[in-house]
Amino acid sequence: MFQVLRDRLLRSYVLVFASILSVSAIAVRVVFTHILSQQFTEKLVALGESAAASLELEDGDLVLENDFSVQSSLDGDQALEWFDARGRSIGKQGRYVLTLPLARKKIVQTQAGTPPIRGMTLPLTSQEDHRLVGYVRASQSLEDFEETLRKLDWGLGSGAIVALLLGGMGGAILTRQAMQPVEQSFDRLKQFTADASHELRNPLMAIDANVQVALKYPEEISINGIQKFEAIANATAQMLRLTEDLLFLARTDRDLELDRTIFDLTDLLSGLLQLYQQQAQTKSIQLSLFPGKPIYLRGDVAQLKQLFANLLVNALCYTPEGGKVEMDCARVEKHILVRVKDTGIGIAPENLERVFDRFWQADSSRSYRSGGSGLGLAIARAIAQNHGGSIAVTSQLGVGSCFTVKLPAIDPSS
Ligand SMILES: Nc1ncnc2c1ncn2[C@@H]1O[C@H](COP(=O)(O)OP(=O)(O)O)[C@@H](O)[C@H]1O
Ligand SMILES: [Mg+2]
Repeated sequence: MFQVLRDRLLRSYVLVFASILSVSAIAVRVVFTHILSQQFTEKLVALGESAAASLELEDGDLVLENDFSVQSSLDGDQALEWFDARGRSIGKQGRYVLTLPLARKKIVQTQAGTPPIRGMTLPLTSQEDHRLVGYVRASQSLEDFEETLRKLDWGLGSGAIVALLLGGMGGAILTRQAMQPVEQSFDRLKQFTADASHELRNPLMAIDANVQVALKYPEEISINGIQKFEAIANATAQMLRLTEDLLFLARTDRDLELDRTIFDLTDLLSGLLQLYQQQAQTKSIQLSLFPGKPIYLRGDVAQLKQLFANLLVNALCYTPEGGKVEMDCARVEKHILVRVKDTGIGIAPENLERVFDRFWQADSSRSYRSGGSGLGLAIARAIAQNHGGSIAVTSQLGVGSCFTVKLPAIDPSS
């Protein structure tokens, strides 16, 4: 699918490039030909004028001078022809004279053949009474002219082909580069959909199994009914949590406006401490918060509460019985740092960055099943980033982990 798209992109690119190239090549050709042909005519005029100087009037008739000196100024591919006032040829010189009849005005004539010849006719007038006394026609073979144009065509043509080849190669690289992020995000989306469906499948299967049994043995509903409904309720709750998490991530992807208020972070954290104290005690985990001093922050209370709850739930979940979970919070220069530190199972170094990926879980067999589906840290990171902050983790397998949330502090003056 992406191959097709890439090819199509490349084709259009090459097409556009080729059109630009040919338009400019044609423009260069036209302008160059025009200039060259203008120069050619100017040369013929100059030649004709110099030839006019070697004429004399004798009784009103044109005669060529005896010490005919034009010879020296004539190139090998040039020629001259003189005519009297009635248009009769009275002398010529050089190989490439025109065989076309004389045009009795100042005009350019081109004669086809091998080689083609171009000539310029100049009417001559006497200096005294401006009477027409004859004509001189200067001509030159077009061989050199055409040779120059042929060379130009070759140069333009091969230049265009080389440019097109290079452009095509560059275009292939560019389209590949341009498509890469698209392909990556498409792959991520595919993975995400697969993961989400997978996570929804388990609770749905649990519900289905329980309902099927209940339908098959309706007489036993009153006996085992409560258990089945409990299982169904659990599965439903799990799906509800998952869909809420997914919805949240989908919303933050679209950069929703935050509901920002100024509040005391220490207050929020101690509220969470109380909320999870019970759970910690049942696992005999020592849960503590340091210190008690208020630290003010501007942000979305509900979201930040979820951020720290996610970290706390993880810490409690991935810490074996008898462990310790500590939270502390401090202002360091322009930032507020909140740490959630545990003495739990830890995270392998190669997985440190992946824990924040959506649906990523170290233990897919869920021996430390949190009831979560691997979205907790992805959500935590999204919330931190929404607030212009970040989240980082350090950990050591078997020793413990420490998650640090960095949030921008409010300016004390405001
Ligand atoms: N405090 C922690 N100690 C050890 N591993 C952790 C900790 N927090 C998170 N992890 C690892 O990161 C994974 C992702 O965490 P999370 O996004 O909260 O998903 P969940 O908790 O639903 O599995 C967890 O499955 C776990 O493997
Ligand atoms: Mg979690």
